[in-house]
Amino acid sequence: MNETLRTIATRYSCRDFASTPLSKLQIKALVEAALAAPSAMNRQPWHVIIVTDKDLIEELDREGMAILAAAEDQSGYERMMARGGQIFYNSPCMMMVAADGSNYAAMDCGILSQNVSLTAHAIGLGSVICGMAGIPLSGANGAEWKKRLQFPEGYDFGIAILFGTANSSKDPHELDMDKVTYLDKAEGKSE
Ligand SMILES: Cc1cc2nc3c(=O)[nH]c(=O)nc-3n(C[C@H](O)[C@H](O)[C@H](O)COP(=O)(O)O)c2cc1C
Repeated sequence: MNETLRTIATRYSCRDFASTPLSKLQIKALVEAALAAPSAMNRQPWHVIIVTDKDLIEELDREGMAILAAAEDQSGYERMMARGGQIFYNSPCMMMVAADGSNYAAMDCGILSQNVSLTAHAIGLGSVICGMAGIPLSGANGAEWKKRLQFPEGYDFGIAILFGTANSSKDPHELDMDKVTYLDKAEGKSE
């Protein structure tokens, strides 16, 4: 199989990272993959923040879990507790993507996420796209967090991607062919 297709077909979300830090070369590959992403009108409506300060990631984790624990709707908290009680899964490296809120910014940040997830997988790292990483920024200390994470003025949480050496792997999810319709010109014709 073509190497790119194999990378796409075998990528999976990793939720079990070793603490081993990433090398400078690995981080460089991830940053370049992020910045190579296409965006509407090449607007590049993102700012990429690399966090390798494990204490900071753990602090964010505690804040996020506390917000989930205090929420009226306990489903998020219960889901995270069932997954080991950590939003950040012990990841030693997070790419926080701040978005400028312009039209298509959310989609562009999503495309960036997939670029870096595939790159992580291609260079032997585990990764998971992590929407829940935005929870600490949505709480009472959100503005303070944005300052500490050095968000540019006017930017909000777009998405985050967590990386690290995978402690365990899993199979990629099943392809659901019911999600596809093929419209063939010949099919509508009667014999
Ligand atoms: C926008 C987005 C946000 C996500 N947020 C989270 C998250 O906060 N925590 C998590 O464990 N997985 C998160 N995921 C990963 C999905 O749960 C995962 O992609 C999905 O279950 C399919 O599994 P797979 O990636 O292993 O194929 C997110 C994925 C996307 C695309």
